[in-house]
Amino acid sequence: LIHLLSTEGLPREILTHILDTAANFVGVHQREVKKLPLLRGKSVFNLFFENSTRTRTTFEIAATRLSADVINLDIARSSAAKGESLLDTIANLSAMAADIFVVRHSESGAPYLIAQHVAPHVHVINAGDGRHAHPTQGLLDMYTIRHHKGDFSQLSVAIVGDVLHSRVARSDIHALRTLGCPDVRVVGPRTLVPPDLAAMGVRVCHELEEGIRGCDVVITLRLQNERMNGALLPSSQEYFQRFGLTPERLRWAKPDAIVMHPGPVNRGVEIASSVVDGAQSVVLEQVTFGIAVRMAVMGIVAANEA
Ligand code: CP
Repeated sequence: LIHLLSTEGLPREILTHILDTAANFVGVHQREVKKLPLLRGKSVFNLFFENSTRTRTTFEIAATRLSADVINLDIARSSAAKGESLLDTIANLSAMAADIFVVRHSESGAPYLIAQHVAPHVHVINAGDGRHAHPTQGLLDMYTIRHHKGDFSQLSVAIVGDVLHSRVARSDIHALRTLGCPDVRVVGPRTLVPPDLAAMGVRVCHELEEGIRGCDVVITLRLQNERMNGALLPSSQEYFQRFGLTPERLRWAKPDAIVMHPGPVNRGVEIASSVVDGAQSVVLEQVTFGIAVRMAVMGIVAANEA
């Protein structure tokens, strides 16, 4: 694995290797070993052209724990704001001896473009591109599910919400299918869950009860207003009335079902506060596991050169 751009097409062995490696790093935290030398002498450049709290911070923590030098480019104050092109920006940062670029961009495909233009020893990790992919979120979601449920081969997983605009949903679906999850459902109104998603090997449901009944895992997604060009369909209130995950509706899932959300959460829109903060929620565990998963990804790509 030279770059990590998507979970689509990643073989099961690589997905499992990343999760197993991450498990070792979780163990490292538990033993309170703060730093490992895996990326000593390497420079990790965090390039977030779109906002982030969890991904950017956990990449920074992960790189620091692996002893890398971490550079967080402040895009709003960079020369990108003066019109410098993406590839000129990358060429100039490469001249500063970058080893790993962690890239978030609103344009689907931007990390692929960068990966085509960097030197063979440089690695690109997609930290979320448009509505296309968010592979490290997909991986940390798989880590969280495996941690709580073990094997994927008997699981029913429902992904509820704005699947249309969700890079997380796409990365989760590809990873779940590759890891052998037999029952993946995507759930939401027709405006946000188009029927052609069935081509990804998932069941499309437009009623919440049908979608989450008997599920082991319920992944809720944010309504991404910023990708809807001002036309929020349905409105937040309408959405909550039909698809909001409340304690009563969560009873349709299995009693030991876990509730996930990639964040940021719109409380009272896709999920009730009492569910986000409730006993079945693993939302903050997802964030913590993200550190170990991102350590694993950076350690694995850095060990491979083209
Ligand atoms: N889940 C996620 O990508 O969150 P951030 O946008 O805060 O990084």
